[in-house]
Amino acid sequence: MIDPAAFCDDAIARLKREIPGRAIIAASGGIDSTTAALLTERALGDRARSIFVDTGLLRAGEVERVSEFFEKSHLRFDVLHASDRFLHALEGVADPEEKRRRIGETFIRLFETEADKFGTDRLVQGTIAPDWIESGGSLRDTIKTHHNVGGIPKDMRLKLVEPLRDLYKDEVRAVARHLGIPSAERQPFPGPGLAVRIGGPVTADRVRQVRVANAIVEQEVERAVSAGTLVRPWQYFAVLLPVRTVGVTGDNRVHGTAVSVRIVESVDAMTATAMEVPRALLSRIAERITRELTGEIVRVLYDITDKPPATIEWE
Ligand code: XMP
Repeated sequence: MIDPAAFCDDAIARLKREIPGRAIIAASGGIDSTTAALLTERALGDRARSIFVDTGLLRAGEVERVSEFFEKSHLRFDVLHASDRFLHALEGVADPEEKRRRIGETFIRLFETEADKFGTDRLVQGTIAPDWIESGGSLRDTIKTHHNVGGIPKDMRLKLVEPLRDLYKDEVRAVARHLGIPSAERQPFPGPGLAVRIGGPVTADRVRQVRVANAIVEQEVERAVSAGTLVRPWQYFAVLLPVRTVGVTGDNRVHGTAVSVRIVESVDAMTATAMEVPRALLSRIAERITRELTGEIVRVLYDITDKPPATIEWE
């Protein structure tokens, strides 16, 4: 484990050396990029500007939540609304790697425009060790292309700066706590957002479905945590499956689809255990998802696979 104070001093000194002028920061509201953003602001002051992109693939209420979080963290930031750009880029794409590549490219093109406006060619990212380890390279197999690593187009005009490259998640959390970032124990959320929690093609309708299901999982798990009936899991979310399946509503058979619920315990996301959760919690989640998405989601499954052999996310 690193010493957070020494790490911060060192990272700020390195950022000052690496960035002579201005920089923009790709800020998603997650712990990694918020930590990278605060370190950069400490190094550069008002020569740094965080950009939060509303991809249209965020969780329910996330734009408001992240904006509030940044205000509390005293970050200088802009919100960029770009749902149409992302949905358009993902049209007809079912392959998980291709989704990540297109999302990565859309992000970079937006950041290139923002960097031009701000008068810089430096982009700070909150990439951490598992991102590039899992994205492969000459010595490793690609487990998945993280949108902020392998999803970057070859002809990108920006120079990347990655102050957290060597850290693991628990180390980033220690640094975040040291920097006074509020709620540093938030669950991780992947940069490509709900797109990697939708098996098959991404459409506005399918984003809406997974967003509703995901919010129900979050609400019910958080309610159980507050009530003391569940230890806070590492991650808890819903995945929309690419299947057609039969259900009944009233006297009618309907063709709908299925959602898988994933609740895992982990320390650093490199391995994870599917959590043993109370049956009543799962029943309530299934009941709410099938009721609040009547006729659309007719089946709810609980994923009991550990990592390995499965990954935490489905894609
Ligand atoms: P997996 O699914 O590989 O996930 O077991 C490990 C951790 O990384 C998160 N994750 C991502 N984060 N971009 C990200 O920023 C991605 O493409 C991505 N894929 C997975 C995942 O939520 C878990 O915490």
